[in-house]
Amino acid sequence: MSFARQMFGQVQRRAFSASARQSSKVAVLGAAGGIGQPLSLLMKLNPRVSQLALYDIRLGPGVAADISHINTKSTVKGYDPTPSGLRECLEGSDIILIPAGVPRKPGMTRDVDLFNTNASIVRDLAKAAADAAPNANLLIISNPVNSTVPICAEVFKSKGVYNPKRLFGVTTLDLVRASKFVSELKGTDPADEKITVVGGHSGVTIVPLISQSGHHDITGEKLDALINRIQFGGDEVVKAKDGAGSATLSMAMAGARFAESLLKASQGEKGVVECTFVDSPLYKDQGIDFFSSKVELGPDGVQKIHEVGRINKYEENLLEAAMGDLKKNIQKGVDFVKANP
Ligand code: NAD
Ligand code: LMR
Repeated sequence: MSFARQMFGQVQRRAFSASARQSSKVAVLGAAGGIGQPLSLLMKLNPRVSQLALYDIRLGPGVAADISHINTKSTVKGYDPTPSGLRECLEGSDIILIPAGVPRKPGMTRDVDLFNTNASIVRDLAKAAADAAPNANLLIISNPVNSTVPICAEVFKSKGVYNPKRLFGVTTLDLVRASKFVSELKGTDPADEKITVVGGHSGVTIVPLISQSGHHDITGEKLDALINRIQFGGDEVVKAKDGAGSATLSMAMAGARFAESLLKASQGEKGVVECTFVDSPLYKDQGIDFFSSKVELGPDGVQKIHEVGRINKYEENLLEAAMGDLKKNIQKGVDFVKANP
């Protein structure tokens, strides 16, 4: 069995609905970066991808040449860092993954230090996407996700092409970490630990719902430590990399998992559910327009946004603590585009 098939399981040969798409163009913006390179590699190994388009302000064609020698069916092209290169990269894309932007170093926060640089990078890439591929699914990895997703929404609104069903903040790494950390505590297989994580993607806005996994025996200090580790898992990696960046390899895996889920859903598979940060009705009455909860994916992107569901008092408090930061982070993104269109 080829490496690609081992990684992604058997290629789906079941009957897809007549409208399901069998071929998919995936673009990666920031493809030469710490996340971009392994993410592009994983996309090349995914048999659901037919075309891979790689863009970066440096080394896009180089990374593409390298990856293009891998003997899977998809074609790979790298694009020059010019407006026309970016446009060609984006045109016809079904999925646009954006891991472009600076990562944290020790002592930095996503909300302040990364925002200052990444807000304009994401705004400009979103403008190009809105012009060249307004119907694509836009998957935002660049931090701070709580603000970069609203930035994209504002850009698409300003160009009259906003479709809330096609915009996703990738929070999958929080779920991946939660699954792994719980399995370490319980001595179980992480593949069996499906932990729901809601809210946003930074610090206390990350709200793991351990009670929904049935682990009622994780309590007290053990639970506090677990929640803290999930919420601040990113810091663990930033510290260990000691100035050389943040999570890249685990993020590439998480981004590839989310893209795979979206590809499955767009190719006709039913019941595909991921937690993701989307334009959500759940807390709009509290002024929070974006929220991550379980979302069923379909051929049109977001199919159904699930309620948070039953949570205990401890988790109610976590959720409560998340809301203030979340609201501010979202507003900061919206205000940025209004002030810097
Ligand atoms: P990196 O510096 O290694 O790579 C970023 C890449 O973006 C570089 O190759 C750079 O040339 C490119 N780039 C910069 N401006 C660009 C532009 N205008 N157009 C296209 N490409 C551009 O950083 P990284 O470690 O890959 O992290 C990237 C981002 O992802 C950071 O903001 C980081 O905080 C974020 N991140 C998010 C999550 C998450 O869970 N959502 C997890 C880890 C990292
Ligand atoms: C993460 O959670 O690993 C990312 O958001 C990167 C970071 O800055 O911690």
